[in-house]
Amino acid sequence: EKGAYPYYMLKEIDEQPGVMRNLIEHYIAEDGSIKIDEELLKRLNQAQRLYIVAAGTSYHAGLVGKELFERLTNIPTEVHVASEFAYNPPLLAEHPFFIFLTQSGETADSRQVLSQVNEWGYPSLTITNVANSTLSREATYTLLLYAGPEIAVASTKAYTGQIALEAILAKAMGELKNIDKAENFNVAKELTFVANGMQALVDGKSEIKEIAEDVLATTRNAFYIGRSIDYDIAQEAALKLKEVSYVQTEGFASGELKHGTIALIEKDTPVIAIITDEKTAKHTRSNTQEVLARGARVIYIASRQLAVAGDQIILPEVHPLLTPLLAIIPCQLLAYYTSLQRGYDVDKPRNLAKSVTVE
Ligand code: F6R
Repeated sequence: EKGAYPYYMLKEIDEQPGVMRNLIEHYIAEDGSIKIDEELLKRLNQAQRLYIVAAGTSYHAGLVGKELFERLTNIPTEVHVASEFAYNPPLLAEHPFFIFLTQSGETADSRQVLSQVNEWGYPSLTITNVANSTLSREATYTLLLYAGPEIAVASTKAYTGQIALEAILAKAMGELKNIDKAENFNVAKELTFVANGMQALVDGKSEIKEIAEDVLATTRNAFYIGRSIDYDIAQEAALKLKEVSYVQTEGFASGELKHGTIALIEKDTPVIAIITDEKTAKHTRSNTQEVLARGARVIYIASRQLAVAGDQIILPEVHPLLTPLLAIIPCQLLAYYTSLQRGYDVDKPRNLAKSVTVE
């Protein structure tokens, strides 16, 4: 029930700190040990390569998952859009392990790939919000998100839940392999910081509403830009805005702008820059100078320690691998308020279904 909330999307955005806490409770014991079947961890660690397969927002959670798995487990990881993998699978490593990310557990494109994987006889894990869903039943293993039902068509808490669970899983895998980075990653503590940071961001929603009104309410198009993990966030942020507000929005690797897309920048084109990655922060800032020079309106979403005077949205500091969990919150809110300002039903955007059960 959405209770006092006008829309499910806003309720589900607000629930995200609780989603982090539920995951900690379900998967991490008091002594910090992780409660995931050791047989699953061992089989994952035996893989030469991990293949994450998903669609839409879940695919974007997979992009962040690649960073987590590669850095904490040292296992090369590929992320694939299910509908592409289905008809054009890549050349596989000799010992692959497949991870399916799916809120609903029913997405036809992902189901099709899992059937193929089962025919090949490779091991698989489904990370889903729905127990006993098709992808859960047909995979070798399942891990649940415990995020509560996600009703709004635009996915919010499933994205952050998937990333947090990938972090917990990668930590457990890396620890089992005695990888320093994983051993030093106190995932319960870091996710608690994330939950607190998310709470501060949702409590500040009125400022985001003003930015939406000011910058996005009447625009024809918009861009999200970033590099590295910030590019991963930009892609999900762009999907959120376009699907509920119908503003044509793209997420770009900021270094790629000058290779073509900058031609689209006109006076007042909104460009939202995500700056949470220390290595690329100054490069993204220099890309924003290039669009400012062509008349763009730039909104900066920056982690506190990388922020400069004038940045409009400041994110509390969290572990560098977990910044997408915070950066996406203002982006979800920007999408939500832009949709309302344009008079749309934000929970049921046109042309979309909650779970896409056709190929
Ligand atoms: C976007 C959205 C979709 C889904 C996609 C996959 O907000 O909701 O892009 O993420 O259809 O759905 P699941 O995760 O259920 O497999």
